Amino acid sequence: MTDAFTLLDDASLEGRNTFRVPARAALLADVNRADGFAELFRYPVFEAGNPLVLGGGSNLLFAGDWPGPVLSIRADDIRIVEDDGDSALVRAEAGVEWNDLVGWTLARDLPGLENLALIPGTVGAAPIQNIGAYGVEVREFVETVEAWDREAGAMRRIDAVDCDFGYRDSRFKRERDRWIVFAVEFRFPKQRELRLDYAGITDELQRMGIEQPTHRKVAEAVSRVRTAKLPNPTVLGNAGSFFKNPVLSRAQAEALLAEHPELPNYATGDEATRKLSAAWLIERGGWRGRRIGDAGVSEQHALVLVNHGRASGAQILDLAQQVARDVKQRFGVELEPEPRIIGGDWPGADRSA
Ligand code: EPU
Repeated sequence: MTDAFTLLDDASLEGRNTFRVPARAALLADVNRADGFAELFRYPVFEAGNPLVLGGGSNLLFAGDWPGPVLSIRADDIRIVEDDGDSALVRAEAGVEWNDLVGWTLARDLPGLENLALIPGTVGAAPIQNIGAYGVEVREFVETVEAWDREAGAMRRIDAVDCDFGYRDSRFKRERDRWIVFAVEFRFPKQRELRLDYAGITDELQRMGIEQPTHRKVAEAVSRVRTAKLPNPTVLGNAGSFFKNPVLSRAQAEALLAEHPELPNYATGDEATRKLSAAWLIERGGWRGRRIGDAGVSEQHALVLVNHGRASGAQILDLAQQVARDVKQRFGVELEPEPRIIGGDWPGADRSA
């Protein structure tokens, strides 16, 4: 039996963030079991220390060290909790690699996650920022989130309706200091239409010579598109999209679109707003493929910042701010970072400890 948790002093976090920038934690706890929380939070350093919860490290940028303790969930069980013939309820623990869950469900003929194939990160992070790609968001499948409630000092089950999911957003993100996601229960209907409204995916299926796509083939097509369009974080450090696509009021968006009719834009589900392509805005400033030292804008995708080798998080943040200032000047649009910024200077950045 593994210990409920293990502790390491003065730990390097360089191998635990996909930007692969150097950072250190005074104390790092790897939590292997749910009962680890009660024990761990008896230590004053955790109880009073506002721990940073680290998932796959694929959605944060260390612009500095984290002054307090760091906690990472390693528990990685996946199982079917219930199967009523029409749908199955799958429980996955926070430490499962997201793409492993995608493969696990598709191998058991449970469709749904195919459009979300190859998203870096862990299951625990998925509901926090409501991961999404190619017309699908994880909120569609989440039934319950099991999370440690630091206020109550107890594990809680939170139903999807109480998770307040939004575009790359949720209650767990807004109440970050309160919740530590330990497991997620997903409901997968056995029959589900394919979501092929995204042209890039249908084009790829065609290139693959697939006439009758299955859920697994769609996952393969999505993986191929992602591999071609997004730099692989195991080869070139990055955290996926660095900026959110900006959501503007309809009037603001229409004014910009009148000037730039080719600017890609999307419905948000709210008639009063419109979402614009941040990648396009960034590319127009000539940023795609540019590099300042080892911090760069990916050549493959203007929304992705990369570490060409030895960039520090502060250098990547500095580049991000230059990009955002330029977009603001050109288009009057504020870009907001998508990853969490630790110890850095961005409006709303997280400096607390
Ligand atoms: N575009 C450019 N330049 C580029 C890349 C794209 O001008 O370098 C334009 C293209 O014309 C394209 C448009 O931007 O029409 C949209 O590009 P893409 O389809 O790649 O999607 P995105 O809006 O840039 C979002 C998500 C991605 C997700 C893709 C596909 C956000 C912040 N990003 O990117 O998610 O994979 O859609 O669904 O919503 C992530 O969150 O880390 C992430 C990679």
